Amino acid sequence: MSNPPLSANSTILGIESSCDDTSAAVLINGKIASNITASQDVHRKYGGVVPELASRAHQSHIIPVIESALTTAKITLSEVDAIAVTQGPGLMGSLVVGLNTAKGLALATNKPVIGVNHLHAHIAALYIENDIQFPMLGLLVSGGHTQLIWVTEPGSYHIIGQTIDDAVGEAFDKGAKIMGMGYPGGPEISKWAESGDPNFHKFPDSQTEDLSFSFSGIKTSLLYFLKKAQQSDSNFLVKNKTHICASYQDALIQMLLKRVKKALKIYPAASIGLVGGVSANLPLRMAFKQLAESHKIHSYIPSFEFCTDNAAMIAQAGLHLAIKGEFLKLDALPYTRA
Ligand code: KG4
Ligand code: ZN
Repeated sequence: MSNPPLSANSTILGIESSCDDTSAAVLINGKIASNITASQDVHRKYGGVVPELASRAHQSHIIPVIESALTTAKITLSEVDAIAVTQGPGLMGSLVVGLNTAKGLALATNKPVIGVNHLHAHIAALYIENDIQFPMLGLLVSGGHTQLIWVTEPGSYHIIGQTIDDAVGEAFDKGAKIMGMGYPGGPEISKWAESGDPNFHKFPDSQTEDLSFSFSGIKTSLLYFLKKAQQSDSNFLVKNKTHICASYQDALIQMLLKRVKKALKIYPAASIGLVGGVSANLPLRMAFKQLAESHKIHSYIPSFEFCTDNAAMIAQAGLHLAIKGEFLKLDALPYTRA
């Protein structure tokens, strides 16, 4: 039996469990009524996400998180019109928990399920708070992806450039690991960078074709820079941590902005949008806004709670699919790659 399309003021329960955050949110009448996220500290000591531990933590968090999202939104499950859930990309064991929970709730209550692409949802995070001027050039910067996306309308996404190796979030995380900091590395590096000098050391930009990015070289460059400096001064990192973090962060930001500028020469964008976990980075947010001002176009960046993984963006992306009548069959599987 196929479900009829839903209206724009439908109530959507969103569920996100693609990586290491378990999140549930409720969207009512186009507004986010709740957005509850349980993070997993268990990965901190390993310097990265341990998939098996992530799926176990999702198992224990998911029902309380959904209950909390419904209670905060002051509704019951029976008042929900559809359940939107991340179908991929992400970690298989993590995705399975969210998708199967959504299917179980849908079967029990006779509601449709909407399968959401996690990357599209990061872009949809912008629709929560903004009336976007299209066409928009989107820069998606997360722990697993770095992409330039040409957006002509909600749901119409063309990748025009992406990383050929690591994602920029990975460059933050791996850089932090090299410097002995915890996971996730982005917030750690940016905290240390606050009082540092970004001109302390110039990390090389990677030479890439077209609108591609590459972040594996800079991490290696950091490793060898530290090794060499520590040969003559074993306390080099301890003494200069703020400056090294500021220089490393600044190099990553410049690498991102360079490709956005290049893309703006080719694509007639009315606006630019910054999304994904790394968009929580303050200096990047400021530089992105300044870039838009210098090009006299609009810029959009989500509030912090909608930058890193969250279910509000899943509910928002799900609403657009539900309006088009795009629902998931109950035998649909998660997918790990975009
Ligand atoms: O979007 P997200 O929450 O998860 C994925 O879909 O990957 O992004 C997580 C990434 C991590 O690499 C983390 O280090 C980075 O976002 N991140 C930051 C900041 N906050 C989170 N990177 C730089 N500065 C931040 N303030
Ligand atoms: Zn994400």
